[in-house]
Amino acid sequence: MNFTLKVWRQKDRHSQGRFVTYQARNVNPNMSFLEMLDVVNNELVLKGEEPIAFDHDCREGICGMCSLVINGEPHGPEDRVTTCQTYMRSFRDGDTITIEPYRARAFPVIRDLITDRSGLDRIIAAGGYISANVGAAPDANAIPIPKPVADLAFDAAACIGCGACVAACKNGSAMLFLAAKATHLNILPQGKPEKHRRVLAMLQAHDAAGFGACSNTTACEAVCPKGISTEYISRFNRDHLLAQISQALHPTWFQ
Ligand code: SF4
Ligand code: FES
Repeated sequence: MNFTLKVWRQKDRHSQGRFVTYQARNVNPNMSFLEMLDVVNNELVLKGEEPIAFDHDCREGICGMCSLVINGEPHGPEDRVTTCQTYMRSFRDGDTITIEPYRARAFPVIRDLITDRSGLDRIIAAGGYISANVGAAPDANAIPIPKPVADLAFDAAACIGCGACVAACKNGSAMLFLAAKATHLNILPQGKPEKHRRVLAMLQAHDAAGFGACSNTTACEAVCPKGISTEYISRFNRDHLLAQISQALHPTWFQ
């Protein structure tokens, strides 16, 4: 297969970016999208040109590092699939493919297709954990948890922190990520004692990192490679209201 690639090249966050056209020739349809970029980069290096910088790590759909907007869609054309698990057979021979970094105020470009997504880490650092030492892993049935609750927590925990939800949102909001990470802990018994504090701190870190408010368009859910539901945003909003009431009634608990 042969493709024309229009790739965003940008030296750093302060430089002007632009699209540069490359040809990807003799691409095996079973190559992943990132393997195809590896081949293009090899050719650039052999020609003495700067390779295209892009983020990746596991290449197994687990880590959330791969972060490309392909033909206008975060993670490309396949539903519930990360960029690294997108294969070239998803495109037609001869296609022109546009490749851009995630576009969001809170994700400044570091170089080419790599953005700084540390704002997501700061949300986790604000409360996405249980601070008590819970010791070794208990027996599976030591703390009874109803199956529907365990299933909900498991679905929320599937978020890989890729940031595609932010790139798809017209307000650059990370509410789907935040809601998944907070709800995963909020609905389990181990996470409940710190629930109110967690919700308030994580939302504060979200706003401080420059993410916008939820746009209510559900564009985030449409592009999420893990199928995280916007139902978690509704749950988070309810938890946030309860946290605000609790803080108003018991301000000393939050000092
Ligand atoms: S909610 Fe989905 S799109 Fe957003 S960071 Fe998590 S896995 Fe990625
Ligand atoms: S490189 Fe890890 S999810 Fe794509």
